[in-house]
Amino acid sequence: MASRQPFVLRLLFVLALFSPLNTRSRAAKLPFYPEDVLPLLPRQLSWPILNALRRPLDLLPAFVGATSPSNGSLAWKGACFYDNIAWLEFHNNTGSEFGGGTLHIKVSKAHSWTCMDIYVFATPYCVTWDYYFLSREHTFEFKEWEGKAELEYVKSRGVSIFLMQAGMLGTLQALWDVFPLFSNTGWEEKSNIGFLKKHMGASFEQCPQPWVTNISIDDIHSGDFLAISKIRGRWGGFETLEKWVSGAYAGHTAVCLKDFAGKLWVGESGHDNEQGEDVIAVLPWDKWWEFELNKDDSNPHIALLPLHPDMRAKFNEAASWEYAQRMNGKPYVWNQMQPAYAANMWNEALNKRLGTEGLDLPDLLVEIEMRGLSFAELLTIPEQDNWVYSDGKSASCVAFVLETYKAAGLFDPISSSIQVTELTIKDAYSLRFFENNSSRLPKWCNDGDNVELPFCQILGRYRMELPGYNTMDPYPHMNERCPSLPPKYSRPSNC
Ligand SMILES: *[C@@H]1O[C@H](CO)[C@@H](O)[C@H](O)[C@H]1NC(C)=O
Ligand SMILES: *[C@@H]1O[C@H](CO)[C@@H](O)[C@H](O)[C@H]1NC(C)=O
Ligand SMILES: *[C@@H]1O[C@H](CO)[C@@H](O)[C@H](O)[C@H]1NC(C)=O
Ligand SMILES: *[C@@H]1O[C@H](CO)[C@@H](O)[C@H](O)[C@H]1NC(C)=O
Ligand SMILES: *[C@@H]1O[C@H](CO)[C@@H](O)[C@H](O)[C@H]1NC(C)=O
Repeated sequence: MASRQPFVLRLLFVLALFSPLNTRSRAAKLPFYPEDVLPLLPRQLSWPILNALRRPLDLLPAFVGATSPSNGSLAWKGACFYDNIAWLEFHNNTGSEFGGGTLHIKVSKAHSWTCMDIYVFATPYCVTWDYYFLSREHTFEFKEWEGKAELEYVKSRGVSIFLMQAGMLGTLQALWDVFPLFSNTGWEEKSNIGFLKKHMGASFEQCPQPWVTNISIDDIHSGDFLAISKIRGRWGGFETLEKWVSGAYAGHTAVCLKDFAGKLWVGESGHDNEQGEDVIAVLPWDKWWEFELNKDDSNPHIALLPLHPDMRAKFNEAASWEYAQRMNGKPYVWNQMQPAYAANMWNEALNKRLGTEGLDLPDLLVEIEMRGLSFAELLTIPEQDNWVYSDGKSASCVAFVLETYKAAGLFDPISSSIQVTELTIKDAYSLRFFENNSSRLPKWCNDGDNVELPFCQILGRYRMELPGYNTMDPYPHMNERCPSLPPKYSRPSNC
């Protein structure tokens, strides 16, 4: 979800790291293709990815190894340079709590003067890339580890190095479009906006100042939806990709909740806790809003989507509060991209779909063969909300908001036939749950803007667009059969 939902690329790297596909000699014998290796994503995301990357192979890197300071150096043969060595040193150049590292890479014996190798370097917290033309020693800086968790990870498992294995031109083109989104230079906001304009037809018109609304929290109620769009930094990049694959114009979501005393809180899945893990958090409104206003470096754009009065009347505050409290502090699945965890999830996800327990990948492959199924067919088995994974019940950002709605009774009487994990952020804001009479919107809503939006944008320089907002009534098994694809995202009715 980023959504902060994931992270298609991160996911591909992680899967590449763990799947037996890395071993090229075995690849030919396996009964599936890399394109099939996406069951970790809700199907609505995985299908578009399969279809949209013209050649998904172009973006599937080969794992060459991992290097950590304790392990000496790593040597391998590349596509262009035949002799390559890498080693990692820790440093503390910035005087930060956890320090950083320098990755040294020495490439030599190029097979021609014009070839080049493209590498991707990854930790579970950072994905980045570089390319080498010249035989010599190169260095790559990890200025600061993001937290203790990343430092510990790199100490024990190292920085993973991937070689892009496809033809150079295709790879470069693919990377050119996508990777500036993740870079830490000043222009990545521009690349996020450029990408979304080009690939989604988003318009990014500037709103008149002020770009912050003077909210009165008395006008905010339990169940009001927060649609958030981040366009800068690491989350900006992940969100941009996610928006593109899912067709959503927001990349993150949260929900307003009131406690028994009437105090306003925000329930958010994908909140960084002190250990640097993404968890579900229930935060006081003031603390949350203060963070978004002053500390969030992703240039967040935020819209408040107030519930329709009928839905508000139906909303069971006590039940939603109880649900949110129960989930508070639980992990946020789709960002939990630690490789070991991902491998685990992948096995579990397949076990759940097959109705088996504890089978590892080779056994799963045998089982799938025996049943005459393909991975593609497995993907079409919808995720069930009551599947409990070994880390406990977890939810992605929008699944968490929709589960809260489910707990509050908004999907009644068809609640039991709605699988919220099948719904994307776009589906969520398309639900006909929200205020449709603009004269009932809070007075401060869109204050000062010369364009009347059907929802309240409360933060951001660019006007938010939510095409399809408030247009779709929920129906049983909604979205369990929807193949919506970029760039049109057409969605057959009743899929
Ligand atoms: C880096 O330096 C700072 C300031 O000297 C210190 O507080 C911090 O603990 C150091 N970090 C590491 C990982 O050594
Ligand atoms: C360190 O080396 C061992 C043995 O070669 C290997 O199994 C392990 O994966 C390496 N760890 C890293 C971080 O490279
Ligand atoms: C915000 O609104 C309140 C009343 O609704 C007003 O007292 C206050 O001055 C406003 N603040 C700004 C910065 O406009
Ligand atoms: C708003 O929604 C209600 C209930 O869904 C409907 O009866 C009403 O006609 C709608 N009003 C407008 C202005 O669309
Ligand atoms: C919209 O709300 C206003 C104020 O509550 C009401 O007077 C008006 O009739 C409503 N319009 C529609 C189309 O429901």
